[in-house]
Amino acid sequence: MSVIATKKLGAVGVEVLDVGTDRLLNDPEVPEACMEALEEHGVLLFRGLHADDATQVAFSRRLGEPARFRGYANPEVMEISFDPGNPNAEYFASNDYWHIDGAMDEIPAKASLLSARVTASKGGETEFASTYAAYDTLSDEEKERYADLRVAHTFEAVQRLNYPDPTPKQLAQWAKRPPREHPLVWVHRSGRRSLVFGATASHIVGMPVEEGRALLADVERRATAPDRVLRHSWTEGDMVMWDNRGLVHRACPFDRSEPRRMHRSTLVGDEPIE
Ligand SMILES: [Fe+2]
Repeated sequence: MSVIATKKLGAVGVEVLDVGTDRLLNDPEVPEACMEALEEHGVLLFRGLHADDATQVAFSRRLGEPARFRGYANPEVMEISFDPGNPNAEYFASNDYWHIDGAMDEIPAKASLLSARVTASKGGETEFASTYAAYDTLSDEEKERYADLRVAHTFEAVQRLNYPDPTPKQLAQWAKRPPREHPLVWVHRSGRRSLVFGATASHIVGMPVEEGRALLADVERRATAPDRVLRHSWTEGDMVMWDNRGLVHRACPFDRSEPRRMHRSTLVGDEPIE
């Protein structure tokens, strides 16, 4: 029996019922129990946890290696807000599209932890959908057809969602980020399989561009159908942790002139997509 008590939330995810900041920091069995629950359920919600940055980072360190982000006072905590002083404010607009964190990196993040510091008065929820379930519910014929497909991921693909009519200067800027190719089907070390898609997916290698895009759009539409999605409505103090290797996520719209602010810490990954 697990040392943590959980309650199912929906299509994916569980709420952790009996873990406050003291157990996060001090219980010797909690880190492993959380990682096991994450592998099984994809999302862990710690409702009303009120973990400050130091607590969130200390817990992240118990789980793995926290990523470091440039431009923030505490480099292990990325502040997500549209405050003009935020060094990444212009890029956060693309959080509204289904994505994996670090899909353009050589090795994507293992997991992310997100705490609500200031919530929006309306909207601003975060949605999650399982990419393991996306694979598992394919037909046998699709599993066979998709097995060898490779997908080109580009920075331009994401940026075009917000800037559909880019200037030559923007295009040149975007092209500085090297594209990355991933298989559509990720065969994990655990033996599980998931589908790799989302905002960075540009086209399928060796397939006519429009045909590949239609296939990717169909994969995403089915994987993120409303009955497959967990939508979390934030209350200040909530912390959510998700398995970045087996889920896509996105932010729901809100009034960006509001001071909504989320604090994210991320566990460095150790498994390339292959
Ligand atoms: Fe994200």
